[in-house]
Amino acid sequence: MRNIGVKIKGLGMHVPETVITNDDLTKFLDTSDEWITTRTGIKKRRVVKKGEDVVTLGVEAARKAIVNSQLNVSEIDAIICATSCPKHLYPSTACEIQKALDIKNAFAFDITAACTGFIYAIDIAQAYIQSGKYKNILIVATDTNSKFLNWEDRSICVLFGDGAGAMVLSSSNNDNDILGINLKSDGNLGHYITLPLSGKGYPSFEQDESSSQYISMLGKDVYKFVVSTIPQFIVDTIENSGLNADDIDYLVPHQANIRIIEAMQSRLNYEDSKVIINIQNYGNTSAASIPIALCEGISEGKIKTHSKVILCAFGAGMTWGAAIMNLDKGVY
Ligand code: ACO
Repeated sequence: MRNIGVKIKGLGMHVPETVITNDDLTKFLDTSDEWITTRTGIKKRRVVKKGEDVVTLGVEAARKAIVNSQLNVSEIDAIICATSCPKHLYPSTACEIQKALDIKNAFAFDITAACTGFIYAIDIAQAYIQSGKYKNILIVATDTNSKFLNWEDRSICVLFGDGAGAMVLSSSNNDNDILGINLKSDGNLGHYITLPLSGKGYPSFEQDESSSQYISMLGKDVYKFVVSTIPQFIVDTIENSGLNADDIDYLVPHQANIRIIEAMQSRLNYEDSKVIINIQNYGNTSAASIPIALCEGISEGKIKTHSKVILCAFGAGMTWGAAIMNLDKGVY
């Protein structure tokens, strides 16, 4: 079978306009800018307003990625949406984005891998394209954590923000932009971060009325797991791809906590200019965090194109993953 390469054709991002600063939070929470900044690195976050949701954010990010790809929507074969904050379980967010953008010839579905969803989606798209069955795939990562936060719980609500990112991947005979990809999960750690769905079945048993529809997290356990696992995981992913840490130009990490990012940076021995950080402006935007950091890094000139990046995410599940990619000119 001939080798089919996978090319990044376009990138896009979109965040809502409404900004909530740490100081804004102190008006209704027993917290401080100093606590949030030193523990997390976050200074502000964007949140959706009435009329905005995962679909509206995802549509705008996808629209930009499609324009940058120079494809016609009719050429898109599949839409994979990574989201953990769907408006409803069905229709899927991917199908709603399909409808909004009139992407008639595609099939569409959602995946749930929390903050790692974008990396999982890249892996699925790569497998589809390399199978020869599909040529052009739109990936959208969109999350509105603000809708699933208990805004009275200072230990959680200060951490998250809303946003969306998108990428178009296409088959290529000449180029291959995905140099390595590595996915993992450990369901035994599922209780670390949860977002329950309530629902009432036929009452043949005692129903649990207590479950909330809020994100809850064992923050310290997540922190310890991530700093003890992810830095080495990145090193292994680079080596398994036949590369050295020095071959990589930029680390684009999931933006969950500045101290976690610093642990990755220190393991790789990268100087500051190689590590893309925007957590101060957006907080943790879950699956959207990496594509937002990637797009913004390119548009602000922090990431020069014709370069190699490693994307690395972790999140509820627990799930984690990393992808090494070539960045060409003109993707954003
Ligand atoms: N403002 C002020 N004080 C606070 C706040 C706040 N917002 N939140 C908690 N505190 C207090 C606590 O009550 C506690 O007080 P006490 O000592 O009197 O009991 C104290 O601060 C310390 O709280 P800890 O929870 O121990 O703080 P910690 O240093 O562990 O930091 C944090 C918490 C930031 C959540 C950290 O554990 C972390 O980043 N964990 C990893 C999170 C993560 O990476 N998640 C990624 C995945 S998200 C996803 O997949 C959806």
